[in-house]
Amino acid sequence: MNSNFLTLGIESSCDDTAVSVLEGQRNVKADFISSQIKEHAPFGGVVPEFASRMHLEAILPLIQAAFSQAGISSPASELSLIAVTAGPGLMGSLMVGVMTAKAFAQSWGVPLLGVNHLEGHLFANVVASEDLLPPFICLIVSGGHTEIILVEDWGQYQLLGETRDDAAGEAYDKVAKLLGLGYPGGPVIDRLAQQGNPEAFRFPVPLKGSNEIAFSFSGLKTAVLWTVNELQKSKTDLPVADICASFQRAAVTALVSKLERATEVTGIQKIAISGGVAANKGLRKELLKRKYWEVFIPPVIRCTDNAVMIAAAGYNSFQRGNISDLSLAPNPSWHLLS
Ligand SMILES: Nc1ncnc2c1ncn2[C@@H]1O[C@H](COP(=O)(O)OP(=O)(O)OP(=O)(O)O)[C@@H](O)[C@H]1O
Ligand SMILES: [Mg+2]
Repeated sequence: MNSNFLTLGIESSCDDTAVSVLEGQRNVKADFISSQIKEHAPFGGVVPEFASRMHLEAILPLIQAAFSQAGISSPASELSLIAVTAGPGLMGSLMVGVMTAKAFAQSWGVPLLGVNHLEGHLFANVVASEDLLPPFICLIVSGGHTEIILVEDWGQYQLLGETRDDAAGEAYDKVAKLLGLGYPGGPVIDRLAQQGNPEAFRFPVPLKGSNEIAFSFSGLKTAVLWTVNELQKSKTDLPVADICASFQRAAVTALVSKLERATEVTGIQKIAISGGVAANKGLRKELLKRKYWEVFIPPVIRCTDNAVMIAAAGYNSFQRGNISDLSLAPNPSWHLLS
């Protein structure tokens, strides 16, 4: 590890403004997140216009706080790299991070690198464990993505399968909304699921009978909706915890069974997970039950959006010879494999 190499990480792809300072690949010197969850909660999801305005207000104070914590007084001479999420994400939100990073890269004369947000999620695992080396399989499971990636080497990724419709986190958020549990839905469903009976409702496990490595969560979400409608018609109190537990059983079974399939196809038994849904207790428990797998799971705070993962992915990519110039532009639909 290059221990004097300091990366400023900036993340603003969705509703969290995050800034970090990372030394080398995994020594976290500062890690700040300003969450907008409370502001978006009344709308049941992220309002893009609000998000970009709040990023604008948060970003400079966060950078100052990060420098203060990391003991950086002269960024121009102390920073080695500025790594910023350039996509995928919301255009207006990405714009705030990318423009800030470009302005500082220019004025301080520090190298700049645009990072793919999903590669960032993957690197949350690298920060958490120095034992994780390619090749391995990574399930990226977040608010906007559900993908199984074969990491052949750093920077060399192969898509093994992805969702055909909703992302798993999106399904959690939509089910929570219809149960009146607020936003974001994942943490609250996960908590209630621990108190409910997972066998109470036999919700369909998406693509259960298929050998294909793929996901589909819209049918599961609709099955929950029908059940809730029927229960409401019969005027019975909604057994919310049982619905959460049964939904979580189906969602987690789908995720883990497709990981099983990916290990069969590749012969690789080393598994990492990342993204917001990787915080899920049910998913973590199911993975750890499989003793024949070597499982890597980041700590909960590094599963959802953060800037440590962006700095880590940026550092690694820069070491591989990648660099951006001042023409760097946000790309809301940047696919990890392109
Ligand atoms: N314990 C949990 N169980 C299930 N889902 C969870 C849990 N904690 C968070 N989530 C879900 O994770 C998602 C947020 O994760 P993340 O911040 O990685 O997504 P995103 O950045 O919005 O999407 P993407 O990374 O695809 O652009 C939300 O959908 C949220 O409901
Ligand atoms: Mg994310």
